[in-house]
Amino acid sequence: MKNMLVLAAGMAVSFGVWSKTELFGQLQDIKVDNAKAELGKRLFFDSRLSGNSTLSCASCHQPEYGYANPEAMGPAYTGSKGFRNVPTLINTVYKKVWFHDGRIGTNLNDVTRENITEDWLMNMDMRLMQERLKQDPVYVEMFKAAGYGEPSNGGVRNAIPEYLKTLTSSSSPFDKGELSQQGKKGLALFTGKAGCSECHHGPLLSDGLSHNTGVPENVDIFLDPLRHQTFIAFNMFMGNENYMGLKRDVGAHVQTHKADGSDLGKFFTPTLRELKYTAPYMHNGLMQTLEEVVEFYNQGGWPDSNKDERIRPLNLNTQEQAELVAFLNSLSGEPLTTEKHVWTEGGYTYQLIKDWRTSKN
Ligand code: HEC
Ligand code: HEC
Repeated sequence: MKNMLVLAAGMAVSFGVWSKTELFGQLQDIKVDNAKAELGKRLFFDSRLSGNSTLSCASCHQPEYGYANPEAMGPAYTGSKGFRNVPTLINTVYKKVWFHDGRIGTNLNDVTRENITEDWLMNMDMRLMQERLKQDPVYVEMFKAAGYGEPSNGGVRNAIPEYLKTLTSSSSPFDKGELSQQGKKGLALFTGKAGCSECHHGPLLSDGLSHNTGVPENVDIFLDPLRHQTFIAFNMFMGNENYMGLKRDVGAHVQTHKADGSDLGKFFTPTLRELKYTAPYMHNGLMQTLEEVVEFYNQGGWPDSNKDERIRPLNLNTQEQAELVAFLNSLSGEPLTTEKHVWTEGGYTYQLIKDWRTSKN
């Protein structure tokens, strides 16, 4: 019975790729509360949410780069530099665990708070933020319209995730069953000889787990004093042993703290959707192109005593590597937005929304 259902569902998509339905499934539609999402959107593009009013969520999660960032390790709060690549927010609403090391596994409300208050991200005291927002008549009106009463921390932490619900993939050739010949061969390699779907499966092309794939360190973290400061402070705060001498990003070790160190260097499997926009890749932005990523896997990753045994030399020829890249490209749809709006109003930098009452964006 189960097999028949799978087969029937698969045929509806396209007989040729029926295994797609079984292995990957589809992203579920999500209900969105418009008034809350609209408020969330204005907050997302408002630099007043950072301590010194210089960074909005969109400064790092830039819409024109798939809500990720073109820098290897994205921007940071004034006086700091970061040590991790800015992840895409497209489809983040479908995730169960967030951040490259999976350190938050509750909900996007908590992830939003972490981004606002973390000292190297927005470095904002939320009590101060609440008072700032109350001084803006547009917010007073919008919070009320969204059913939150007056501007509040809780409202912000609820409205931004509501906006994130609107950032979902829908139009990729993969979803529309429109793979090119090359892409189809790439899919066969992805699920077969190259073994990618061992970890990249489900609607996000991610198993939602952490693995050590032998991605080398980005030495910039240790060479740039501003990055190194942030890195040390973070590791101290997370209770990592020997944080002063650390020469690697420990990844998911922050949660498991295994004494034998076998969990060092594990990172959460990212989604493979919308990669066309989100370069560079990996937790530290070390790889610039998908060709480089595929070459990395083909070589079996870098040496690492904790490396997952499924990461091994693949012996793919040049043509097969190109096919895999074609498949990866088929997982991106039309951009959610192509416009870049930046403007200053009353001394604050906004992007994208000018007037929430008339904006169609
Ligand atoms: C200064 C840059 C910066 C700003 C500003 C920023 N972020 Fe992030 N964000 C990051 C980085 C870097 C990470 C990954 C950090 C890590 O893994 O340790 C991240 C992670 C996330 C994640 C988890 C994504 C995932 O797939 O695990 C979400 C969701 C998120 N940010 C939302 C927001 C929201 C909402 C705002 C505004 C309130 C915001 N961010 C502001 C840089 C930023
Ligand atoms: C053992 C599990 C595993 C296997 C097998 C695997 N991956 Fe990954 N993949 C991961 C993890 C974990 C990461 C994140 C690593 C990091 O951030 O350092 C990743 C990252 C990526 C990224 C970067 C995405 C981004 O946004 O940064 C791409 C692209 C990718 N994998 C494609 C592939 C392809 C193609 C294959 C097959 C050749 C493959 N993966 C096999 C676990 C795996």
